[in-house]
Amino acid sequence: MARSLTGTKSARGFFGHPPGLATLFFTEAWERFSYYGMKAILLYFMYDRVGEGGLGLPSDTARALVAVYGAAIYLAAIGGGWVTDRVLGTVRSTLYGGVLIMCGHLCLALPAGAGALYLSMVFIVLGTGLLKPSISTSVGQLYPDGDERRDSGFTIYYTGISAGALLAPLVVGTLGENYDYHLGFGVAAVGMAVGLVVFARGRGRLGERGTRPENPLRWREVPAARRRWSVAIGVALCAAVAAAALTGTLTADLVIDAISVLAIALPVGYFTVMLRSPRTTAAERTRVLAYLPLFLAAVCFWIIQEQGATVLAEHAQESTDLGAFGFTIPASWFQSVGSLVLILIAPAFAVLWVRLARRERQPSTAAKFSFGLVVAGLSYALLVIPSLGGEPTHPLWLVGSFALVTVGEVCLSPIGMSATTRLAPAAFATQTMGLWIASSAAGQGISAQIVGWYSRETAPQYFGTIGLAAVAVGLLLLVAAKVYRPLRDTSATPSG
Ligand code: PHE
Repeated sequence: MARSLTGTKSARGFFGHPPGLATLFFTEAWERFSYYGMKAILLYFMYDRVGEGGLGLPSDTARALVAVYGAAIYLAAIGGGWVTDRVLGTVRSTLYGGVLIMCGHLCLALPAGAGALYLSMVFIVLGTGLLKPSISTSVGQLYPDGDERRDSGFTIYYTGISAGALLAPLVVGTLGENYDYHLGFGVAAVGMAVGLVVFARGRGRLGERGTRPENPLRWREVPAARRRWSVAIGVALCAAVAAAALTGTLTADLVIDAISVLAIALPVGYFTVMLRSPRTTAAERTRVLAYLPLFLAAVCFWIIQEQGATVLAEHAQESTDLGAFGFTIPASWFQSVGSLVLILIAPAFAVLWVRLARRERQPSTAAKFSFGLVVAGLSYALLVIPSLGGEPTHPLWLVGSFALVTVGEVCLSPIGMSATTRLAPAAFATQTMGLWIASSAAGQGISAQIVGWYSRETAPQYFGTIGLAAVAVGLLLLVAAKVYRPLRDTSATPSG
């Protein structure tokens, strides 16, 4: 059991983990710094007046574009995963993805108007689609099957993500808002460049596995009819998008709806392909079946967690007593509470998972997910109390809510990544990680439909209903872990 915990070689790495974890930790921290930095000022840059350095877009168009952009970035992870598994392998995908992302930020660093913005979006969607699932899969590849440090390793890795996310608005946001947007975007590009240097220097620590694709595409061996069909479908899709763009049919609304539909349809399609593929072995099929309820629970979790930037952001600005501490708290500060809490508590959880594993008492993945979802539900239920008492509410309620949902996040999000690397069929390793990342896109797609029900008047019902629904789904997962065979079978070995 404690084989790899006591192995002297691996214990000398990064907090008792393989040294490659440090490379991935810092690379992803810098990539997330560039991503969240860009996101912190993108909306303002889009709708700010031209004289103030912005693009002067209508604010509703800007909001819709930012939302769709976020979903598209995470959806692209499925395609990026495919390219990684079949063509590039994780190491090259991370490198090429990082270069594309850097080019995207550089486009925005130049004062070149809306054209540069759209070009940068293409770069960043493609780049993040390649990098994000690959680098997360590489974390899993550091651990042999059955290594009980895997959940703990992902929890440490997630701390890196949050460090980047916490620092980004403070640096890029401040520079962008107070000095010049392009300067802010330029600093995001520098952040990605630093990440690339860290990765290029440390990639030797990642082992051989990521240097080649798991399931190489042999285009010449694909039956001729299938090859022709693939090319025809590809050309038809590109032609349809080009025609829609040229004729002006490609409106923001159409793009939003198309991406929402894709966010649900792509995962369903992918699960079907994985379950039916001849490359998936019988044992792997059981694991995919076990993964399904976890995936659904994750979608429910993201529906709540992602509302931190929408409904709760509005609640912070409109219904919270921002002067409660004798000065006016900027409403945007609440966006950093989650990352801060995560950095403070994640190390404790990383240690906890390893300690429990040593005593052979590590909770199953399903139990951790269930706990995460229940706590997320409680973070919403908590807000019912102050909302009943009239406005404005004390800011500590909101802080408490963000802190709670973050406790849920620590138990679900890194554990989900870890489970993905453990349960994915080998031929689909990075694609399954792409699917995991798309669970966030699906959650955001669904929450886009729900957030309209929130208003200052309906706040108590809104928080109460969603909160209790999440608690119920979380408890249902616990029941499923007992009665649904694939889940029961695979969680018999919690992390191995
Ligand atoms: N904070 C996480 C990150 O940026 C959120 C996330 C989780 C995004 C899972 C995608 C998938 O990495």
